[in-house]
Amino acid sequence: MPKEVVQKGFFGIGVYQVKRSENIGTLWRSAYILGASFIFTVDKKYKRQPSDVLKTWRNIPLYHYDTIEDLYKALPYDSRLVGIEMGDEVPELKDFDHPMRAVYLLGAEDNGLPPKIIEKCHHLVKLKGNHSLNVAVAGSILLHDRAEKMDLGLPEFDYTSKRKGRT
Ligand SMILES: C[S@@+](CC[C@H](N)C(=O)[O-])C[C@H]1O[C@@H](n2cnc3c(N)ncnc32)[C@H](O)[C@@H]1O
Repeated sequence: MPKEVVQKGFFGIGVYQVKRSENIGTLWRSAYILGASFIFTVDKKYKRQPSDVLKTWRNIPLYHYDTIEDLYKALPYDSRLVGIEMGDEVPELKDFDHPMRAVYLLGAEDNGLPPKIIEKCHHLVKLKGNHSLNVAVAGSILLHDRAEKMDLGLPEFDYTSKRKGRT
């Protein structure tokens, strides 16, 4: 009988107009541990941050898009843009079916995701709480939920082959 290839999909996660690099350093760390294929910023470049102890940008691509339109153009084939934002009508994470190929987008610490971007998202999802969470915390909870629901495997870490001189 022919073997079937297990579809694992992929996901990327990023932040629009992030203000604090230490926040996304923390987010990149979670993203890598929880299986992200890529990470990105939109309209604000990431500066190296010690909070990303794994130096995630060494292991998966870190993209920067100057504008939100650049992100739309770069969305991988047949992927879905998922906005993470609070709102009365927004579905809760517990009821959310993650797309196999997802690009998750979080908003800035001060202003969140603007309505014009929210309109363009294929899906929106919110986390519990009556006040906004820290952006890295929100992204980490979201990705943990994906890992739990989809159970598609996570990156392995090799702690024995620490080689000097590699950047
Ligand atoms: C600190 S919050 C922005 C708060 C902003 N002052 C506002 O009221 O929209 C930064 C980002 O974290 C994410 N976030 C925080 N709490 C969330 C929640 N409960 N549900 C969904 N996203 C959340 C969203 O992506 C949000 O844009």
